[in-house]
Amino acid sequence: MRKVILDVDTGSDDAIAIMTAVLNPELDVLGICTVNGNRSIDNTTENTLRVVEHIGAKVPVHRGCALPMVVSLTKGRRECVPFAGQKDKKEDVHGDFMPLPAATIHCEKEDAVSWTVRTLMESEGDISLIAVGPLTNVAMALRIQPEIANKIDKIYIMGGGWHEQNITPAAEFNFWIDPEAAKIVMNSGVDIVLVPLDATHAGAISIHVAEELAQCDAPAAQLAAKLIAKRLDGYNNWQPMKDMTTVPIHDALAVCAAINMDVLEDVHFVNVDVDCSGGVCDGQSVCDMEAKDKAAQPNVHVALNANRELFEKMLLEALTKKI
Ligand code: RIB
Ligand code: CA
Repeated sequence: MRKVILDVDTGSDDAIAIMTAVLNPELDVLGICTVNGNRSIDNTTENTLRVVEHIGAKVPVHRGCALPMVVSLTKGRRECVPFAGQKDKKEDVHGDFMPLPAATIHCEKEDAVSWTVRTLMESEGDISLIAVGPLTNVAMALRIQPEIANKIDKIYIMGGGWHEQNITPAAEFNFWIDPEAAKIVMNSGVDIVLVPLDATHAGAISIHVAEELAQCDAPAAQLAAKLIAKRLDGYNNWQPMKDMTTVPIHDALAVCAAINMDVLEDVHFVNVDVDCSGGVCDGQSVCDMEAKDKAAQPNVHVALNANRELFEKMLLEALTKKI
């Protein structure tokens, strides 16, 4: 089994990612770290606890950073942190809370960054991270203890976009919420697999997956069916895919990549940097696909496509399981 630490801003696709990771027999989820992103740290932590409790998992949850590293310090740069989302609007793909009872389990006393640093430093260097929210926790861990860069096996990141964006004309949400954190992680020297919007949009799954999951009484299947349907409605009002019967489940694709890299296609080892200028391209992942900057070294494996059939199969296999 591959040891992994999840870092999430739960959110609907994070929830599906958590369940896919915990229920897949090839992953040993050591812990789940929460971060501010889709909603405030209070909500993303509560949502994560609700999902863990819903599937009956015994996985520790550690609360992480409540704000990005620096963006909110500059007036006018990022007014909406914590992000309130499109509250109660048709475009909202997450909602403030998971459609589950309030959690009765609690997160651990040790915060996400301290726990991640301690766990990695005590390890044999055989732990991978799967980060599917803003990279604030991971960047802070690298700042507190740079040595973890030599202890992390791989980092699978959902974030960024080459030809695809979502939150601004230039940027993807996770990188846009905390550009400095993304820049720190991209330049950390760790072996990174980046799953950007180009891959997650190509891997947008059919609504038939939700219909199939709804037929299964497993708790994960029932919740995932609801969340996929909500996401399809939200996306068709906000950012419709070419095929409007499909919807991206961004974060779960990053989890599936940690299980089987065949789910990603058209992967390029290139230099990826992040714009932190605060201008119109703030938070943009700058993927040097043609190695134009001779001074920059390749630092990230970027996937531009996905194997949708394999992705759907992996989701159905995991989410129909019970603990
Ligand atoms: O841009 C997509 C990413 O932003 C996903 O991780 C989603 O959960 C949101 O965090
Ligand atoms: Ca997320």
